[in-house]
Amino acid sequence: MMPQAGLSSSTNIKLPLSFIIYGLMTFIVAQMTLFIRHDALTEGFFRTPDIWMGVHFLLLGFAVMIAMGAMYQLIPVALLTSIWSESFGFIQLGVTIIGITGFAVLLGVSPGHAIYGGIIAILGILMFIFQMTKTILHQKTKNWLTYFILGSILCLFLTITAGFFLAFNLRYGSIANHETILYTHILLGISGWFTLLIFGISYKLVPMFSLAHGYSEKLTKYVFFTYIAGIVLFMIGMWTYYHVLQVIGLFFLFLGFLLFRLHIREMLKNRMKRKLDIPFSFALLATNIGLGVHLVAFICSVFHIVDTTIWGWIIFIYVMGWIIFSILGYLYKIVPFLWWTHSYSDKIGTEKVPTLQQMINENMAIVLYIAFIIGSIGLVCGALLQIGLLVILFQGILVLATILYTATIIRVLLV
Ligand code: HEM
Repeated sequence: MMPQAGLSSSTNIKLPLSFIIYGLMTFIVAQMTLFIRHDALTEGFFRTPDIWMGVHFLLLGFAVMIAMGAMYQLIPVALLTSIWSESFGFIQLGVTIIGITGFAVLLGVSPGHAIYGGIIAILGILMFIFQMTKTILHQKTKNWLTYFILGSILCLFLTITAGFFLAFNLRYGSIANHETILYTHILLGISGWFTLLIFGISYKLVPMFSLAHGYSEKLTKYVFFTYIAGIVLFMIGMWTYYHVLQVIGLFFLFLGFLLFRLHIREMLKNRMKRKLDIPFSFALLATNIGLGVHLVAFICSVFHIVDTTIWGWIIFIYVMGWIIFSILGYLYKIVPFLWWTHSYSDKIGTEKVPTLQQMINENMAIVLYIAFIIGSIGLVCGALLQIGLLVILFQGILVLATILYTATIIRVLLV
């Protein structure tokens, strides 16, 4: 099978790949950090320096960097316009790597000084936002993907703004409402930035990977407006301490996600590829987990459950089961596509080239995804039951799965 032309772009492959390789390295560091601080996980203490470090290596180092790499590759193809400046992209890469590494390490070893690394990380992310905005402004006809991306990068901007105030407060402690800023930071980071981005990218990748045609696009705008309404209502509810508004906000978030899932289902009904491959099926599983978590969050808010440990684990399952699983599913396909196009597309017909299927190790994918699922479920159960040994065991499985996943992806680049 030849790679679909839809993923190849004119971007210098070194740019997206560098983001992806750094992201994979920090993925391992994040899982190891959480493994070392298994005691905090067992007790449900999320707000400690080491967990802050692990969380930001996972979300900023891994998830944000992979998202940036994927966007450098996909945006020119999906929006039919080239990246505004590639050289600027490489400078942005360097600044962001220094910033994120410095920030995450400082959060762990000296949170009072994390603001200094944080400012460099913010600078790198602002450069990325600038790059994407310039690129999108070049696009001739805007489409729904454009709006999902604009919505997500606006949320990214607000997330890092809130992050700045949080880090500033860890140093100077002079800004009131620290808790509300933290919840806003988490909401905008995981629901605003990541979810809107994965929605947008899924609208491009799901039809491409399943060969779906002829489905209705009608639901897209309802997904967009309902989910954004949920974010706005929930945020206003948090800042005004008006519980009913928070419940309504969470209902809209659930509804927006449900509409998205139904839309994906409609696309898949109209697909030509009957048997879906393992990595793509894993990304689809992530959509079910995301929907389930939204429902649980809504129900918890209806019953006024405010226990921070329960909410900590709801957020964890959302991050791991929806955001990280989506990335692990799509990345497993994107990297071989990129590498195949880069290494072999101009050699077809002149010499023997491997097929794309030979570059994607499906058997290993099954093992890895099962390990990620078992590791995550076991970790949450062990922590909720407060059994330290289970937490060590299952977080250990996650560390091993992460190392093996990274090695499998890197191996593709050596073919
Ligand atoms: C997309 C990017 C980001 C996401 C998704 C994100 C997500 C999170 C999450 C989930 C937490 C809660 C962690 C815990 O309680 O253990 C958190 C806490 C925090 N974040 Fe971020 N973050 C991002 C970027 C940033 C940036 C750029 C900064 C600052 C420069 C920052 C500063 C902080 C601080 C200081 C805390 C700890 C606050 C506290 O518990 O009092 N974050 N972030």
